[in-house]
Amino acid sequence: MTETHANSKKLFVKTYGCQMNVYDSACMSDALAPHGYETTLDMAQADLVLLNTCHIREKASEKVFSELGRLKELQGKRRAMGGDMLIGVAGCVAQAEGEEIARRAPVVDIVFGPQAYHKLPEMLARAEAQRHLHPALKTPIIDTDFPEEDKFEHLPAARKEITIKRGLTAFLTVQEGCDKFCSFCVVPYTRGVEVSRPVAQILAEARGLVDAGVKEITLLGQNVNAYHGLDATGRSISLGELAYLLAEIKGLERLRYTTSHPRDMDDALIAAHRDLDILMPYLHLPVQSGSDSILKTMNRRHTAAEYMAIIERIKAARSDMALSGDFIVGFPGETDADFEDTLRIIADVGYASAYSFKYSTRPGTPGANLGDQVPEDVKNERLWRLQDLVNAQTTAFHQSCVGKTMPVLIERPGRMQGQVGGRSPYLQAVHLDGLPDLIGAIHQVKIIGISTNSLVGWLKAAVAV
Ligand code: 5AD
Ligand code: SF4
Repeated sequence: MTETHANSKKLFVKTYGCQMNVYDSACMSDALAPHGYETTLDMAQADLVLLNTCHIREKASEKVFSELGRLKELQGKRRAMGGDMLIGVAGCVAQAEGEEIARRAPVVDIVFGPQAYHKLPEMLARAEAQRHLHPALKTPIIDTDFPEEDKFEHLPAARKEITIKRGLTAFLTVQEGCDKFCSFCVVPYTRGVEVSRPVAQILAEARGLVDAGVKEITLLGQNVNAYHGLDATGRSISLGELAYLLAEIKGLERLRYTTSHPRDMDDALIAAHRDLDILMPYLHLPVQSGSDSILKTMNRRHTAAEYMAIIERIKAARSDMALSGDFIVGFPGETDADFEDTLRIIADVGYASAYSFKYSTRPGTPGANLGDQVPEDVKNERLWRLQDLVNAQTTAFHQSCVGKTMPVLIERPGRMQGQVGGRSPYLQAVHLDGLPDLIGAIHQVKIIGISTNSLVGWLKAAVAV
């Protein structure tokens, strides 16, 4: 049951960017629940609005500033009605541009990085204390430290109850930060060095989620397969070993993880894919480019051939593995020949899905000091060509599923009346005719067709009802 508070306040969290931010936003709501904050889906009704921001590519921070302009108006309206609205900026833009945000947008009450959300109640109390001061007299509340203490230790026990509202699938952060320092990437600067959560903490959180009805957990980390958390005996456990431990949790039916680095795809993890039914046959393994010289300037620390060798090992362990990747086009110095190498590696791997981006300079990264920028129109053209190829591969992958029967976790009502929707083991969306009582379990579904970005399924029992 939800704890009721005499003067409950409304919280609106807007999440930008990756799944890690989705998880962090959930933790922020959890951290504030014991302080009387209930989440609302209506920003205009909120007593507190938190923007959980992303800094991975250009424009992400500009979006935040334009949203702050809109919030200033909403705050004005609430004040005119006798109410108020506190505004906080969280996440990676906050981490990277804390002072700048406070200077450019005085409407913001608190600014805090990804390592500080457990301190939210205390920061809010400070913001409340000065909310009636003239903006010029307020001291900006900024927390962008990388503390020694473990923020995960501070998650309230109420998490289990809150999770119920999250449904059948949940994210669980096991690792944060990154030591790889790819030359285009801000993550090592905004999220800090690689840190892994202890095994016991993860198992306890996973058990809590399963008790609350979660059937599928996605383990998250910026570099999730570099996970090396300690067990009770002080031994370092790899992600593969962690998967075996999680597989023992009764009631947990599916396990996924993202995002991985090719260098950390070790034997234990590949073996786990061979041995564990619970570990879904889907792997997001970004390569970024197929050109060895670009990979070198990107500081990826692997070649295209090494990446292909890893893919072969994975396919040998689990032949039906669906592969996914990330690509950057137009990295400084990328020639037509380099780009052709990228198209070739995509053709060789055969992706089920992929994400692709035009390179954008991130201040503070080594990439920002490189000359030989690729013109925008060349980047655009390369992106279209790459996406055409990937789209054709995705369609081919969907098509190859037609006629097969596969387990689908039915998660929600479908878009149309009389339909339900879920996910295949390969993370494809599946829609089928069926009553809502199918929701919450894995059913064997025959794939009978494909529609835009999803599969159409058929379930004998569902039609008979
Ligand atoms: N420009 C373009 N894409 C980037 N990515 C990370 N940094 C940049 C950048 N500066 C992409 C990478 C990464 C994904 C999360 O975002 O492909 O894997
Ligand atoms: Fe960024 Fe590279 Fe680390 Fe991924 S591995 S988070 S791209 S630095």
